[in-house]
Amino acid sequence: MQTFTLGTRTVGRVGFGAMQLPGPGVFGPPRDHDQAIAVLRRAIELGIDHIDTAQIYGPDVANKLIREALHPYPDNLALVSKVGGRRGDAGEWLPAQEPGDLRRQLEENLTTLDTDRLAAVNLRVFGSDGADPPQRVEDRELFDDQLSAMIRARDEGLIEGIGLSNIGVEHLQIALDRTEIVCVQNAYNLLERSAQPLLDLTTERGIAFVPFFPLGSGFSPDNPVLNHAAVVAEGRRLGRTPAQIVLAWTLTVAPNVLLIPGTSSLAHLEENTAVAEIELDAETTRALDAAA
Ligand SMILES: NC(=O)c1ccc[n+]([C@@H]2O[C@H](COP(=O)([O-])OP(=O)(O)OC[C@H]3O[C@@H](n4cnc5c(N)ncnc54)[C@H](OP(=O)(O)O)[C@@H]3O)[C@@H](O)[C@H]2O)c1
Repeated sequence: MQTFTLGTRTVGRVGFGAMQLPGPGVFGPPRDHDQAIAVLRRAIELGIDHIDTAQIYGPDVANKLIREALHPYPDNLALVSKVGGRRGDAGEWLPAQEPGDLRRQLEENLTTLDTDRLAAVNLRVFGSDGADPPQRVEDRELFDDQLSAMIRARDEGLIEGIGLSNIGVEHLQIALDRTEIVCVQNAYNLLERSAQPLLDLTTERGIAFVPFFPLGSGFSPDNPVLNHAAVVAEGRRLGRTPAQIVLAWTLTVAPNVLLIPGTSSLAHLEENTAVAEIELDAETTRALDAAA
């Protein structure tokens, strides 16, 4: 499998996202606990060495499943989490952005995963307009304080590297003036490429870019990415599934892209992991490049 650096680690370009493991709406226990455990164990058997999680997936559920399935962790497994949010009583995704919130969430992640240190933790920014990534830093003083909290956690050895998530180019530029950033995690897929300037900057700076919603997410029932005509047509032509076409295309976008497709299904896990070996021909890549 091709690799790229993730801070002090070198990881395979196809990893695993744990967001689909908890129950519906990423809230509460999984529909099938034993299958969730089996998916995690199979991911390691398939050679996956990068798992993305968050204490707010569940909350606590994804982390506890990872601990139950995989602890003690293989030395080469890069566990990456995120801080910056919390869940409401009905599962709402709410900001928790003060430096003290970040520290508390980091400690909760370490406790639920039962580890002393994480390979990286993303500061997940919530803008005032809700879901969309803020293009500008809305509160410079807060952002500086957040970065200080992350730097302190790294200096104390609780995290190996600092990541940023749901950001604009300006956030990354300001952060890089202060410290090393090892990964950036924004929404990006065949039909959602608004993070392209950010992706380009990470490529230029040799920082891992980890797209979330690479398959179009689990939140849209009629998934327009997997059902896109070009994806379906190329899949038929090459004898691959739509998910494989989409993921293989995402790997062609830049060498620093690390995939973390999310699934609760063993069959989908096998399918997604196999894309590490798929090389798309120029005709397919051109057709998909034009799909957005
Ligand atoms: N930083 C952030 O703010 C943020 C936000 C969202 C996500 N993330 C991370 O990014 C990861 C990926 O995003 P995501 O899980 O939300 O969305 P995604 O990977 O784009 O899509 C997940 C959806 O695709 C389905 N799926 C997976 N493999 C498939 C296949 N081979 N064929 C057909 N359907 C398939 C899953 O259902 P099944 O379970 O049935 O396979 C699920 O409904 C997450 O797991 C999480 O770690 C980060």
